[in-house]
Amino acid sequence: MVVPNGEGDRTAAVVGLQFGDEGKGKITDYLSGSYDVVVRFNGGTNAGHTVVTDEGTFKFHLLPSGSLRTSYVVLGSGMVIDPVSLIPEIEIVKKINPALKIMISRNAHVVTKMHRQIDVEEEKIRSSLMIGTTAQGIGPTYEDKYARTGIRMADISDLNVLREKIETMYRMHSNLLSGTEFSDPSKREDMAKEINGAAQKLNGYLDYTELAIEGLYSQGKRILFEGAQGVFLDPDFGFYPFVTSSNTISASIYTGTGFSLRKVNRIIGVAKAYVSKVGEGPFPTEVTGDLAKQLRDLGGEYGTTTGRPRRVGWLDLPMLKYAVRIDDVDEIAITKVDTLGMLDKVKVCRQYVLDGKPIDYIPRDMDTIKRVQPVYDEFDGWGQISDSISGRKISIEQLPPRLVRYIKYVEEQVGKPIGIISMGKERNRTVRIIK
Ligand code: IMP
Repeated sequence: MVVPNGEGDRTAAVVGLQFGDEGKGKITDYLSGSYDVVVRFNGGTNAGHTVVTDEGTFKFHLLPSGSLRTSYVVLGSGMVIDPVSLIPEIEIVKKINPALKIMISRNAHVVTKMHRQIDVEEEKIRSSLMIGTTAQGIGPTYEDKYARTGIRMADISDLNVLREKIETMYRMHSNLLSGTEFSDPSKREDMAKEINGAAQKLNGYLDYTELAIEGLYSQGKRILFEGAQGVFLDPDFGFYPFVTSSNTISASIYTGTGFSLRKVNRIIGVAKAYVSKVGEGPFPTEVTGDLAKQLRDLGGEYGTTTGRPRRVGWLDLPMLKYAVRIDDVDEIAITKVDTLGMLDKVKVCRQYVLDGKPIDYIPRDMDTIKRVQPVYDEFDGWGQISDSISGRKISIEQLPPRLVRYIKYVEEQVGKPIGIISMGKERNRTVRIIK
């Protein structure tokens, strides 16, 4: 077993520092070879984590991205789970990692087709304030959770309990659902039966996962927590209302799993070398036109869940510094340096200026953030990165000199080390920097 940073890292977390899609899936997969347990704590199928190995390309929406290599995976209580779409994911992973033990929180909430429909109907009502959700029913499922009318994983193996809960949910949302197929009681019954059918296959995986994680920790197992989305999609600390519906920051490990954040030894924040975003909302360093197309095509920037073209822009240091502070990050993993290095000139936003004055905070009221002007520093592109360093622990000087300049500059500005550099989709196109 490769120990990435020594015994002090028996527990670690991987979290996103931007708008999601930072490449957390790849970093989690890379690290998971050194961890016995990988735990997801938030979100649902809105997440799309891609892992590329010699065995193929795997897209995870619910199972943690560490599922291919670790021994135990946990879907924590902070998640929202579509039981029907979880089954094929389990079947694929079991072919690659047959010994994997899967534990699903009995308390995690259940996403139904009806929630997906509500998601679509709510977006219509929002009109010009549309969020651009993934239409996966995530927001409505968390709404039901906090309205205390939600369905939990522990409920779905009893068809009568499930029916009653679906009927309550329908009554709560009947104004939105009246013109849809779900106004037909037989469609609701079909849905109940489909979920109940899935429950029969998932029953053996249900657990009091907060106790299971604690038990594995007591046995000395190494545990990795995998976040979905990123700081700027957090409903409390992101660009509200253009956010998702579960907290995405490292602190939500505690509420999403029951495992104390005080026992998480290392927090690894993942940032893309540039920034990408799907959905509406502010994006201070966004680029458009030919440059956006070039970057999008070089980086394959199309949503894993929705296939939507992603908006792209330059690395934003004010955002990164804020995210590093909110997540209390120990080290940064930077991804897609291969893509960015192909450009002739690379820009990085060092500072925001508002009404002619430099500011050292990120305005989060939507009118002010739109008026912010980024101030950029410019770098030369560093071109191709040799394959000879792939998969190795290296000193930073083994990277192309122009990339070294860029990495050192970001480290100095943010005040945190960049310990992992990802330079391609494949698992081994990753290096660890030894200081
Ligand atoms: P929702 O989570 O589907 O409600 O979407 C709310 C916002 O978060 C939208 O802008 C989505 O595009 C964005 N979002 C949600 N999950 C992800 C993700 O995993 N990666 C990137 N964006 C996401």
